[in-house]
Parts: sequence; structure tokens; C-alpha cells
Amino acid sequence: RKLENVEVECEPRNKLTSPASSLPTDPALYTGPFPFYGRPSELGCFSLDAQRQYHGDAQALRYYSPPPTNDQGPNFDLRDGYPDRYQPRDEELQEGLDHLLHWLLDHRGKLEGGPGWLAGAIVTWRGHLTKLLTTPYEQQEGWQLAASRFQGTLYLSEVETPAARAQRLARPPLLRELMYMGYKFEQYMCADKPGSFPDPSGEVNTNVAFCSVLRSRLGNHRLLFSGEVDCMDPRAPCTQPPACYVELKTSKEMHRPGHWRNFYRHKLLKWWAQSFLLGVPNVVAGFRNPEGFVCSLKTFPTMEMFEYVRNDRDGWNPSVCMNFCAAFLSFAQNTVVQDDPRLVYLFSWEPGSPVTVSKYQDAPYAFLPTWYVEAVTR
Ligand code: A3P
Ligand code: MG
Ligand code: MG
Repeated sequence: RKLENVEVECEPRNKLTSPASSLPTDPALYTGPFPFYGRPSELGCFSLDAQRQYHGDAQALRYYSPPPTNDQGPNFDLRDGYPDRYQPRDEELQEGLDHLLHWLLDHRGKLEGGPGWLAGAIVTWRGHLTKLLTTPYEQQEGWQLAASRFQGTLYLSEVETPAARAQRLARPPLLRELMYMGYKFEQYMCADKPGSFPDPSGEVNTNVAFCSVLRSRLGNHRLLFSGEVDCMDPRAPCTQPPACYVELKTSKEMHRPGHWRNFYRHKLLKWWAQSFLLGVPNVVAGFRNPEGFVCSLKTFPTMEMFEYVRNDRDGWNPSVCMNFCAAFLSFAQNTVVQDDPRLVYLFSWEPGSPVTVSKYQDAPYAFLPTWYVEAVTR
């Protein structure tokens, strides 16, 4: 049930400016100095098992175990095991913030800064923030973010757009296999215990996940967010999370300067946004050939990724990403004024347009589960 389109005043009430009901996303509007972004600090973690059940521990954490560098290099067959040793997660289950709220319910009494800290914070998934960071440069996929305020805290939870849902349901077989290959690469690169070796003979089950929960600050926005982490490097110079975490990625093998340019302009932006937010220092890429074999690896330090596009007119700029994200969070904070877990402000964005917002009550958009609201209200 749509209640209304929202008119918000971003400026003080007595200032004679027209109320803003939308937020532009043009990169040119967000240049300027890099905003403050605090070093993310890990508050805790949780794991999801092969049945997608929550555990308040690190049981799903895996350990970075690259192949020895002395021989010819890797030869990982990413198609091995497909589809017979593949247990894909059920993407029809829209989990919203549920797992993160589970963690929060277990830990909210012990948060540094006390209950006041949480009341002034924004709670969301890292993946949602990644989409915000890349918005000024995104030309393909729009997004929708549902927002509710409850006991002061602003909760942000993504809603699958009708277009994204249609694409997912019609996903071509080759794309399904490509998705599998990304997870298969992780299996070749990770061990279950520190100091042991990968075992690529087993199943790939994408229900399993290890998630880190962190706090940070962007401008004056306190953030509490969680993100899935591929593995930790037991031999990292700093063993304290998130500095010991490693992000794994696959990409097409490249042979021409033009391919690399495109890779720096588009893929590296997404890799940077995802890892920078969480404080993951390195992304290890496996380059796959047309037959689906990874024969070369390359480590991209997150803090060096911008160098590849710094002198490129058609490149991306970290300041633009972070300034836009901060502006969106301010826009959301000023829009979501009523404190009510059943009210949802739906922020919608399509490439080429500004972010718009409309207001709803209860199903289908309300996302704070009754078990959470009741436990916190009690
Ligand atoms: P690659 O991106 O390495 O190919 P992540 O890298 O974030 O840990 O995700 C692991 C894998 O999940 C990806 O591997 C990809 O196969 C799949 N994946 C993640 N996000 C996806 C998306 N939006 N669409 C399709 N597949 C996705
Ligand atoms: Mg991952
Ligand atoms: Mg990965």
C-alpha cells in the first residue's frame, strides 16, 4: 500500500529553498575532497551453514591457501563439478537484514558506546553500501533500498527490482555456470584450517558464508554493517581482522590494452568499493581462459586500485563514490523522519535518473521482522 510520494526538506525549515524530493547522481556533483571514512573495526562475526542456518561464530571462515609459486602456476578447472557437485543457495528466499539482526539482537547490550550509539547509527549490509558507492558510475542496473527508522536507528535493506528479478528467473545456462565458477575458484584457493590445503573434490555449497560485522563512520554517519568475507590469510602481516581478510575474484583473461582499460574502468571500481568499505586490503584475481581454466593470479591491493584510472578521463574517482554515499545517507536520514518499524520509505534509482522516494506501510515492503521488533521493544 503506497501512502504518498515524500517531500523532504534537506535544508533548515526557515531557509527559502524548494524542498528536495529526489537526489541527483551525476558524478560532477560529487567531486571535491574525500570525506572522512573511519577505519572499519570488527565488532564480531557470524556464519551460515550448508542449510543456511545462523551460527554466532566463525565456523564458516576459510583460510587463504594459494598454490605454490615455484612450479608452472595454477591450472584450476573452474567448470569441474558443475552441475553435479553444486548446491546453489535458494535465491527465492529474500532474507533481508535477518541474519545481521540476529547478530545485533545477541550483541546490542554489549556494543561500545552503549544503546545511544546504536540509536544514532545506520544498519545495513556492506553490499548495499557497495551499490551506493558505484551509483554515480553505474549505467546498467538500478536499485531499490527500503528504509525504516526504529528506536532511532535507520535500517536499510535492499529490495530486488522487478527487472533484476526477471533477469534472475531468466538467467541463461552459461551465466549460471559462470556464477558457479566464481565459487569454485574460492574452493581452489581456500583451506578449512590454517596451514592445511584446499580440497576441490567436495561440493560447492553457496549457502555457506562467513560474515564480518563492523562499525565505521562516513562523514557524520555512524555505520554498523556486515559483509561476507571469502577468507583470511594466516600469513598476513597483520592478523587482526579486517586487515587479514582476502577477497577472491575471477575475471576473463585479457590480451589487449583495451581489455585492461575496460577492466580498470568497470570491474575494478566494483572490486574497490566492496573491499574498501570493509577494510579488506587485498583482492586476489584469478584470470580464466575461454575453456574455464585459471592459469594466472594477480593480487590487487585495494589502496592501489585507483592508480589504474587516476589519469583516465573515463575512469572513476573514490571521492565521488564516497561523497555520493554520504549525500544519500543524509538524504535518507532527512527523509525517514517517523520512527515506526512498519513504515517503509522506498528509495528507487534507475541509471540516468535521480534517486526518488515513496512511502509505504506493512507488506510487502516492511522488512523488520516481528521477532526482532518484539525482542527490542520488550
Ligand atoms: P566472481 O565475482 O569472483 O566471479 P564475491 O566475489 O562477492 O565473493 O562473490 C563470489 C561469487 O559469487 C562471484 O565470483 C560470482 O560467481 C557470484 N556472484 C556474486 N555476485 C553476483 C552477482 N551479482 N551476479 C552473479 N553472480 C554473482
Ligand atoms: Mg564472497
Ligand atoms: Mg569473492
